[in-house]
Amino acid sequence: MQRSKIAGIGYYVPKNVYTNTDLSRFMETSDEWIQERTGIKERRFADRLGETTTTMGIEAAKIAIERAGITAQDVDFIIFATLSPDYYFPGCGVLLQREMKMKEIGALDIRNQCSGFVYALSVADQFIKTGMYKNILVVGSEKHSFAMDFETRSRNVSVIFGDGAGAVVLQPTQKEGQGILSTHLHSDGADAELLAMFYPGSNANKWLKDKPGYPDQELGGLFMTAEQLEGGAALPYMDGPAVFKKAVVKFPEVINEALKANNLTAADIDLLVPHQANLRISQYVQQLLGLPDEKVFNNIQKYGNTTAASVPIALCEAWESGKVKEGDLVCLAAFGSGFTWASALIRW
Ligand code: COA
Repeated sequence: MQRSKIAGIGYYVPKNVYTNTDLSRFMETSDEWIQERTGIKERRFADRLGETTTTMGIEAAKIAIERAGITAQDVDFIIFATLSPDYYFPGCGVLLQREMKMKEIGALDIRNQCSGFVYALSVADQFIKTGMYKNILVVGSEKHSFAMDFETRSRNVSVIFGDGAGAVVLQPTQKEGQGILSTHLHSDGADAELLAMFYPGSNANKWLKDKPGYPDQELGGLFMTAEQLEGGAALPYMDGPAVFKKAVVKFPEVINEALKANNLTAADIDLLVPHQANLRISQYVQQLLGLPDEKVFNNIQKYGNTTAASVPIALCEAWESGKVKEGDLVCLAAFGSGFTWASALIRW
C-alpha cells in the first residue's frame, strides 16, 4: 500500500517573548508557581494587530513547502487545524490558500484543539494512501493571546498557552518501510465542557434565555449578551486537575495502541514527540513507558502550550536539531479538549 511521508516541515513563532515574571505584571502569579506546575518558563505572543493564526500558519507553511522541494502552486490540498481562527467563519484554510496564491484546491479546517494536528495528519495520510492527492499541506496554528484574559481570575488558563504555528507537507513515498505507519484517533465527549469556550456559539440561546438583555422574540437569538461579554463569558474555561487526570491515562493508552498495531514496543521508539500540554504530563508518560530523557522531546519551557501547533513545532525543532534521522521511529501523541486524543507512528 502507498504510504505517506513528511517531505517538508517548518515552524514559526512570534518574536515577542513573555516570561513568567512578565505575566506577573498582569495577574497574581509567579515564576516559581508556573515552572513547578507546568515546566513553562516563557511563551511567545503574536503582534496584536499584524499577526493572525493564518499569517503565522503561512510562515510555517512557506518553510515546509520549500523543504519539500515544491512550490505553493504544487500543493493539491490544505488541512488547517486551529481552535483560534481569524474569523468565526470561513476557516483559515481558505485564507491561507488566498494569501499563498495557491490553485483552487480543497481546503479543510479541523476543530480538534490540542489533538488537531495529529487528526489533520491522519486525514492527510488517508488521502495520500488512496492516491487522491500528492502534496498535502497540513498546518497547525494558534493565536491564543487575542482571546485570553490576563487577569487573576483566568490565571490557571492564561499562563499555560502560547502562540505559534507548525506545518508539514505530506507526499507519497516509494521507499520500503518509510512513512506514516498508522494513526489512531479517539474522543469522549462526556467531559466536553471541562475544557471549552462556550461563547460565541449556537447553543447560546439555551444558556442565555432568561438572562438580562436576551431578546424576547420567536426566532433568532444572540451569541451572547453585552452583560455577559463584559463579565468574561467569551473566555476559555478549563478544569485543570480533571484535564490532567484524563491526559495521563489517554496519552500512554494511545501510544501503546499505536505500538501494538505495528508489533512494536516502547523500546523501539527513537523519539516521542508529545503534545506540549504540561511538562509534568510528558514526564509522567515518559516514566510509564520507560523512555530515557533523550527519547522524549519537550519544548514547552520556551513556548507554553500552543495547542494545534505544538506537535509540528516540537517535531520541527527536533528534526532541525538532528534528533530525527532517516530510519528513526517517531511517535506523535496528543490529548486535548473534547476530550480528543490521537497518536501517529512514523518511520522517518
Ligand atoms: N499562579 C498562581 N496560582 C495559581 C495559578 C497561577 N497561574 N493558577 C491557579 N492557581 C492557584 C489556584 O487558584 C488554586 O488556589 P487555591 O488553592 O487557593 O484555590 C491553586 O493554585 C491550585 O489550583 P489547581 O487548579 O488545583 O492547580 P493544579 O495544581 O491543578 O495546577 C494546572 C493547575 C492548570 C497547571 C494543572 O491542573 C494542569 O496543568 N492541568 C492540565 C492542563 C492542561 O494540560 N491543559 C491543556 C490540555 S491540552
